[in-house]
Amino acid sequence: MATAVETITSGYRPARYAKHVNPQWVRLLDLLEMNVPYQRCVGAELFTSDGRRIVDFLSGYCVHNVGHNHPDVVAALQTELARCGPAMIQSHVADLAGELAEKLCERAGGRLRKAFFASSGSEGVEAAIKFARAHTRRAGILAAEHAFHGLTCGALSLMSDEFWSSGFGPLLPETSFVPFGSLEALERELQSKRFAAFIVEPIQSEAGVCISPQEYLRSAEALCRRYGTLFILDEVQTGMYRTGPFLAAQQFGVEPDMVILAKALSGGLVPVGAVLMSDAVCDSVYSSLPRAIVHTSTFSENSLAMRAGLATLDVLEQQELGKRARESGVYLQKKLTESLREFEMVKAVRGAGLLMGIEFQAPKQLRLRIPYEAFGAIHPGIFGQIVVMRLFRDYGFLTQVCGNNFMVLKVAPPLMVEQEHMDAFVRAVRAVVELANSPGSFWLEAIGLARRAFRS
Ligand SMILES: Cc1ncc(COP(=O)(O)O)c(C=O)c1O
Repeated sequence: MATAVETITSGYRPARYAKHVNPQWVRLLDLLEMNVPYQRCVGAELFTSDGRRIVDFLSGYCVHNVGHNHPDVVAALQTELARCGPAMIQSHVADLAGELAEKLCERAGGRLRKAFFASSGSEGVEAAIKFARAHTRRAGILAAEHAFHGLTCGALSLMSDEFWSSGFGPLLPETSFVPFGSLEALERELQSKRFAAFIVEPIQSEAGVCISPQEYLRSAEALCRRYGTLFILDEVQTGMYRTGPFLAAQQFGVEPDMVILAKALSGGLVPVGAVLMSDAVCDSVYSSLPRAIVHTSTFSENSLAMRAGLATLDVLEQQELGKRARESGVYLQKKLTESLREFEMVKAVRGAGLLMGIEFQAPKQLRLRIPYEAFGAIHPGIFGQIVVMRLFRDYGFLTQVCGNNFMVLKVAPPLMVEQEHMDAFVRAVRAVVELANSPGSFWLEAIGLARRAFRS
């Protein structure tokens, strides 16, 4: 008789998913030869039912900081389920939420003393918009160009790349964008005193792993204070020790009014999000007894998410994964830089901790430039997708290009990634880049991909 696990994992049927969920997603994965049946995911390794081992260098876009299915987080969830405790009574004080909020605020420090829990990063951004408006009594929200803040309507209104918003408007009025890193543009906008908040990622992940210039965030915070605008950091990808410290903000010496966390907060097992904020911001929303429930969400403080969050924090700290992220990041960045230095198509390797990007650029040699430009004209993402596809298919590494910059390969393994994985990854990237630097099979593959993609 089949075990419960076998029953759950047998019968991988992507056609059923295509029929009832999203056919284009299945088509895309098929095209990229990445539609594989994962059966067991442990640490940084993913095992497929046909016997392949894939090493995860994406971490679900910075979800799996503690690795996949960390045994301590799994055990904490099992215990929580077994105790039959208060999961979502709603009309009660969710004690676990208090415990997690206290721990998050202690670690974040500065003026962050309260937490609102949500079930995703986008929902956290939505909450931050509302809280900032309530606090300042202003409507406008300012964001940085090419940011990624989420795909619900409010969060989407804070993203300048039209790919995401096209067809979904009208979005929130009174939003504006400034170039990431430009203090002049920021001050010009803030002077209008229209803006409740300026929201920014300390490292713009999907824009291409763009690291804030050292003084930018500190000066941006000072400008926000001068013009009565709240300074909000989106740390959905950068938080939870991904770049070394608990928050990336801590390496820039800033004290935001709000910080949004999600993704890695619950160990990659339960949806979660959190907005950390000052007492003053919180008080302006929950300002009287009748307003005690003015902003809530059914799943927000559910005991599984809270328990997973507490267990994840324990793992991150007991195993000193922040320190490890910092050290591994230095090692990996150095190895990648050295091994890719000679290739003209590699423009830069940059990052902080284990959030890294390899930026490619157009080749100068004519023999490469012709195919490169031909494919770029068909779709700007083809070059990056061939790199991703080859790393996956030929070398067993899961990666992706950045959502708002197809020329940057994102490198973000779980924080406990082993040196052996990093060394193998460096060899694999070098082999793929070497292939792209000669006019052979890499570019032939691009022709095939382009043909299949645009057949129907
Ligand atoms: C920086 C950042 N903010 C917000 C979000 C939205 O989070 P979610 O997908 O959980 O809604 C994302 C998602 O990738 C993100 O990268």
